[in-house]
This record gives sequence, structure tokens and C-alpha cells, in this order.
Amino acid sequence: MTDQIERPTATPPSPGRARQNAIYSAGVFGHIPSVPADFAELERRAKRAMGPRAWAYIGGGAGEGATMRANRAAFDDWAIVPRVLRDVSRRDLSVDLFGTTLPAPVLFSPVGAGELAHPDSDIHIGSAAAELGVPYIFSNQGCSPMEDTAAAMEAVTPGAPRWFQLYWSTDDALVESLVRRAENMGAEAIVVTLDTTMLGWRPQDLNLGSLPFARAEGIAQYTSDPRFRDIVAERIANPSGAAGPKVELTRAAVSTLFSMARHLPGSLLKNLASPVPKQSVQTFLDIYSRPSLTWDDIAGLQKRTSLPVVLKGILHPDDARTAVEMGIDGIIVSNHGGRQVDGSISSLHALPDVVAAVDGRAKVLIDSGVYTGADAFKALALGADAVCIGRPHMYGLAINGRDGARDAVANIIAELDLTLGLSGHTDVTSLTPDALRHMGRR
Ligand code: FNR
Ligand code: LAC
Repeated sequence: MTDQIERPTATPPSPGRARQNAIYSAGVFGHIPSVPADFAELERRAKRAMGPRAWAYIGGGAGEGATMRANRAAFDDWAIVPRVLRDVSRRDLSVDLFGTTLPAPVLFSPVGAGELAHPDSDIHIGSAAAELGVPYIFSNQGCSPMEDTAAAMEAVTPGAPRWFQLYWSTDDALVESLVRRAENMGAEAIVVTLDTTMLGWRPQDLNLGSLPFARAEGIAQYTSDPRFRDIVAERIANPSGAAGPKVELTRAAVSTLFSMARHLPGSLLKNLASPVPKQSVQTFLDIYSRPSLTWDDIAGLQKRTSLPVVLKGILHPDDARTAVEMGIDGIIVSNHGGRQVDGSISSLHALPDVVAAVDGRAKVLIDSGVYTGADAFKALALGADAVCIGRPHMYGLAINGRDGARDAVANIIAELDLTLGLSGHTDVTSLTPDALRHMGRR
């Protein structure tokens, strides 16, 4: 069972065995991995590493948490049925997405306000993704200007793949500006998130009265944007009539003012004395998303960008059909990690109908509850072209910064590789539902 026997000729190292070897070799010297290899322990340790506000926002979900539970339970409804004696010594995890070959069918989901888990979150996550060679989908609610994150990724691996996730503002010129910036910083696709035209009902945050954006956490794409800054300057120059409610100077209010001032470009002292930070937060809250969004807006975006357009948050096959009929390049089957609609269908249960509706005419990705390599295997077997990893990379980040984010995803890729081979398969692109058996309820 040595590498020699298994691979007599030079083949790329298997990520599964390479990761096992790295961990077990370090173990000989008493080093144990800082990022746990299973999701349950990863989550427990991440919770311990985070403050209550961070845990509420990152770990929390909509309503009573039914969608989050459904996302996980859905994976248990499908069982892998391994095949044997099929020479699985060479395995290929690579996939092609929009002209880029990825080493594994895995992306980092966009996550906003990641600095709650770790300072300079986007820089660290981007660097982690660049090390692994898989795309990072920058969040529109990111904590560093997209240009800075792209530069950090370039420093790790020139040409490291990155996508941009857009929240559609009520200000079309801002949308235009964000899209142009994404094109210029080397984004390979624009992901429009459709399921968050308003924030869902999130009791964990509500119970703490905590919204990161109100403290200017997660609005760096806006405060670095020329169009957004013009809007803010315009509002300061022409205040709209009545002054807002008088601010009660509590400790929390002072802490919020400091947070706002710290998060805006420029010096802290100058920002504390300036109306810009507070007006930036208010402007963001007023314009960040547009519930009136329709298919026509998406068609307009397709005309205005040469990049592939990917729609995130599709769960109904009819929406998937509409999307492909208008030439959409990709779909992410997602319920936003159960953060938006409580009692929603799980992503995995929604996947087969979406795959059937798309019928090969667009790429189909999935997220929401993909926490292990075995989960990824099941999603791929049910027709996904790739999976996006959300909370696990945030949890790794909370535990150990950039290396933690990298290792959390490297573990998933490693387990996917081993699961692939141990189930009798050698190529992620040729998996079919035949690799699985449905076990329970549908
Ligand atoms: C998110 N998600 C998200 N999605 C998006 O399109 N833009 C965003 O800014 C964010 N922000 C965000 C913050 C946090 C803390 C979380 C946990 C999630 C949703 C994300 O992209 C993905 O859909 C979910 O994370 C998938 O669920 P799991 O697999 O992480 O449970
Ligand atoms: C969230 C938004 C930012 O899920 O997508 O919190």
C-alpha cells in the first residue's frame, strides 16, 4: 500500500493521501492539526474562538433553524453504494468552469462581514483559495476592497481564479461601477445573489440587536467605490430635510461610532470628526439591495458584461429553466445556508430537478450544507458540476486565519478524493446518480 506500488509512474499526488500523510507525519512529532478534520468538531471549536456577535451572525440562520437542519439531513437521505475492484489508483478531480480548469470541483462561497471571525478576512480567505488553486467568490459585503483581495491572491498565485458576487443595489450606477471593478480586478464570473433582496428573519442577530453593517463591518466594497462615495457626498451636501433622531450617547453608541470611523478609508481621528462614516452606513442601509429585481434586470446585466453570469439562490426548476432559456451561464442551487427562508427546501433536495431542467445547458453548482468530502461526492453524483463551501471555511478562518480557511477546504477536497476512489470511481465529471441509493423520505 505504498505510493510506489500504487503509482508506478509519475502521476499528480492524490490530495487525499497527501493530506493524510502530512497530518500523520506531523503527528509523529506531536503536532496535531489546528483545524479539526470533521465538521462537528470544527464547528464547536470555531464557536469557542468567536465572540457571541460573530457566532450569531456566522453560525445563525433564519427563524427556528429548520432550513439549516434540512440542508444537513438531506445528505443523509442519500447513501453512497461503493463498487470494488475497479483500479482507482489514478483519480481526476479536475473540472472546467467557464474556460478555467480547476484542480477540484470546489469553490469558496461568498461570505460577508467575515472580519467578525478574523481581521482582514477577505485577504486571508482569498490567499487560502489561491494556495489551493480554487476560486474565491468575493462577497459584495466583503471586508476589503475587491482590488486589495485580488492583489493578495495574485501575490500567492499569479492568475488565481476569483469571481465576484453582486448584490443588486437600488442605484443602478453603483451596480454598473461594481461590475466594472469586478471585470478590472480579474473576476472570471459575476454571481448575482437572488435570495437576499432583503435580509431574512434572523433571531440570533435580532436577539442581540446586532447587524454588522450598521457598524460598517462588511461594507468595504461600497466605501471604496467612487459611485458610492459620490452618493454619500451628495447626501451630506444636501441633507434630506428633518434631522434624524437624536443620538443617545451610550457606551454601545460610542463603540459603534468608533467602529464606523475605523472602517472608513482615512485616518481614525479625521473620520471621527467627519459626517462621512455615519452617512456611509446610512446610505448603505438605504440602497444596498432592491426587492423589485426581476428577470429583465438580469437580462440587462448580461448585455452589459462579457463575463459569465451565474445566478445564486435558485431552488425551483422553473426558475432554472427561465435562466437557461435566457442564456445564463451558471446556477448556484442554494438557500443561502438557511439564513433567508426558514422551512425552505434543502439545496440537495432541490438539486436533481434543477439539473434536469438545466439539461446540460449551463453549469450547476450547489451550496448550503456541503460540509464534508462525502457531501461533495453526493452533490456531484446528483449532477452538480461543483460545490461551494461556506461556513466550513469561515470556521477554519476563525480558528487559524488564512491557514485555517485553507485547511478546512483542503480537508473537504482530501475526503472527496478518497471517497471517490473508495467508492470505485476515478473521475468526478463522470459520476452519476447510480453511485447513490435514495434511502428515505423525499
Ligand atoms: C453568507 N452567504 C452569503 N452569500 C452571498 O451571496 N453573499 C454574501 O455576502 C453572503 N454572506 C454570508 C455570510 C455568512 C456569515 C454566511 C454563513 C453565509 C451565503 C453563502 O454564500 C452560502 O450560500 C452559505 O454559506 C451556504 O451555506 P453553508 O454551506 O455555509 O451552511
Ligand atoms: C448574509 C448576507 C450578507 O447572509 O448575504 O448575511
